[in-house]
Amino acid sequence: MRQDGRNPQSSVWMPQKGKPSEGWLGKLCDWVACLKALDTAPQDEASTPLNQQNLISDRLTRKEAAMSHSQQQQLRVHIRWMIRRDMPEVLSIERESFEFPWFEEDFIRCLRQRNCIGMVAEQGERVVGFMIYELHKTRLHILNFAVADSMRMRGVGRQMAEKLEGKLSSQRRTRITLEVRETNLAAQLFFKQVGFRATNVLRSYYEDSPEDAYVMQYHCAANEFVEPMVSNRIDRMAG
Ligand SMILES: CC(C)(COP(=O)(O)OP(=O)(O)OC[C@H]1O[C@@H](n2cnc3c(N)ncnc32)[C@H](O)[C@@H]1OP(=O)(O)O)[C@@H](O)C(=O)NCCC(=O)NCCS
Repeated sequence: MRQDGRNPQSSVWMPQKGKPSEGWLGKLCDWVACLKALDTAPQDEASTPLNQQNLISDRLTRKEAAMSHSQQQQLRVHIRWMIRRDMPEVLSIERESFEFPWFEEDFIRCLRQRNCIGMVAEQGERVVGFMIYELHKTRLHILNFAVADSMRMRGVGRQMAEKLEGKLSSQRRTRITLEVRETNLAAQLFFKQVGFRATNVLRSYYEDSPEDAYVMQYHCAANEFVEPMVSNRIDRMAG
């Protein structure tokens, strides 16, 4: 508390320390000064009872703490092309993410295709996510995509999706497509959150289960969706 009698945290007047008032005149002067101070104090604080003020500031503190917590939780990652050396970490993320994971041969066979690209998200020296996608004439198609279990819900997937969205152009590749399993609600919610919309259902799409696939699509011109052409199907698709 400062010597001028004001709490630096608030503008509510407080009696000065070390200068006690004497007699009835002194007390009266104190009251007048007190009333003047209340009159000039900002309305929200002056008119709010002390217990309510404590409640409000307590709520604010908790809100601020929650915000800084969620900001702390966000993980900035470096996104780069996938290289052979990343494979052990990519395979470990793949295995913890999918019931029917790709094996190393699947990745290699896929990445040998001229139109197939792998990217990874790196945090420090550690690979925390990856994405495999295909280049088509007018679109990009996500084949496989996962974030390490311990790093989820921290913005890594969003940064990778945004990186891919940044590769679209209104002249050439205008959209991103993918298939997601009907049971993979988490991925559906994620893609919806980053701007994709479900556009089609592919009945009994997978060879390893009787599930349907939902086609989801992101278009660089908002609210405009084109029927996807699903081609080049490989045995185990993302999702
Ligand atoms: C889908 C996946 C890649 C998302 O990655 P992530 O790093 O956890 O996602 P983010 O933290 O960037 O989340 C981005 C947004 O999606 C939302 N989201 C992510 N996962 C979600 C979930 N399980 N349920 C609801 N919303 C979710 C987040 O709340 C966030 O929204 P906000 O930015 O408005 O707060 C990750 O969950 C994963 O690897 N899943 C297993 C593999 C998989 O299913 N891959 C997709 C195959 S098609």
